Amino acid sequence: MHMRHLIDSTDLSVAEVDRILNLADDIIQDPAAFGECCKGRILATLFYEPSTRTRLSFEAAMLRLGGKVEGFSSAANTSVSKGETVADTIRVVGSYADIVAMRHPKEGAPKVASLFSPVPIINAGDGGHQHPTQTLTDLLTIRSLKGRLGGITIGLCGDLKFGRTVHSLIQSLARYENVTFILISPEELQLPRHLIHEVLEPNHLPYREVQSLEEVIGELDVLYMTRIQQERFLDKAEYERLKDSYVLDAAKMQLAREDMIVLHPLPRVNEIALEVDSDPRAAYFKQVKFGMYVRMALILTLLGIKNPLAPIREEEPELVAQPPVCQNPACITTAENGLPQRFMYTDEAHTRCKCFYCEHDAK
Ligand code: NCD
Repeated sequence: MHMRHLIDSTDLSVAEVDRILNLADDIIQDPAAFGECCKGRILATLFYEPSTRTRLSFEAAMLRLGGKVEGFSSAANTSVSKGETVADTIRVVGSYADIVAMRHPKEGAPKVASLFSPVPIINAGDGGHQHPTQTLTDLLTIRSLKGRLGGITIGLCGDLKFGRTVHSLIQSLARYENVTFILISPEELQLPRHLIHEVLEPNHLPYREVQSLEEVIGELDVLYMTRIQQERFLDKAEYERLKDSYVLDAAKMQLAREDMIVLHPLPRVNEIALEVDSDPRAAYFKQVKFGMYVRMALILTLLGIKNPLAPIREEEPELVAQPPVCQNPACITTAENGLPQRFMYTDEAHTRCKCFYCEHDAK
């Protein structure tokens, strides 16, 4: 039996997500009633990559529950710069704190942490891979403003290749009824193929890949805008060429439905013109507040203070006997030599496999 962590957005069942969103609703109704729930508990925020909102959101969540926080917001001044592994860091921090939120530029780092941690780990974003607490934020926002998670048409626009919030959100929304996905991006920034092959296609989910926002905006219930992820480009010239691919402005909003909502995980660069902020359909600042409340609900849940989650018996994936070397330059295995390569099969015929940590495909 395993302690529960939140590494990937589908680590929680749909029913468990529902309970967390319901708890967040209860907190929104009466925040003061939860003000002492985490008295005596400590949240550690280990942020190896810059962040303002996500880290402050976690810290605000814990403080509003009456708990305390410790942590770092850059790896530069820690023993990581002396060469300490994620495994060792987490064994140490797990002796001080009751729960840990970790953000890391290498994909799979929080997964590694969860293998060694004595306390629950929350993935607060790993490279271009996953960002499951942003997904809880997005789900709570959509459910609160649209009244439902199923039966929606969502357009995801911008950097679908490196945008980890998009990856987590698609995996999660794919579990609700009648969700239609419209994937709007330049060809170079399309959604990673493994999400098409493992999530959208096997579940027979309607999806379309398009390049023009204008062409599809009128069909959407939710428009999820994203920033082009400058820091993940290996080729800076390519970033320069693609950075202004989409700008949502008042003229484009005129083509949208009256009840469409616009979400964005923030920070925004220039993909949403400032004039859109005053449009009642712009929901990205409301989304920020939902994010804090849902993190409060998540902390209470993972600590077992409210709605405790049942421990799970994780099925041991069948590992590839002679694993290849992961070709993803952002994989945690490229940063830590001692970490064994581990690959698992993704199809029954055993012709395809993916890295256990970062989920990049291999043949
Ligand atoms: C996102 C992230 O870090 O992936 N931001 C966030 O968590 N609020 C989106 C982004 O950086 O573009």
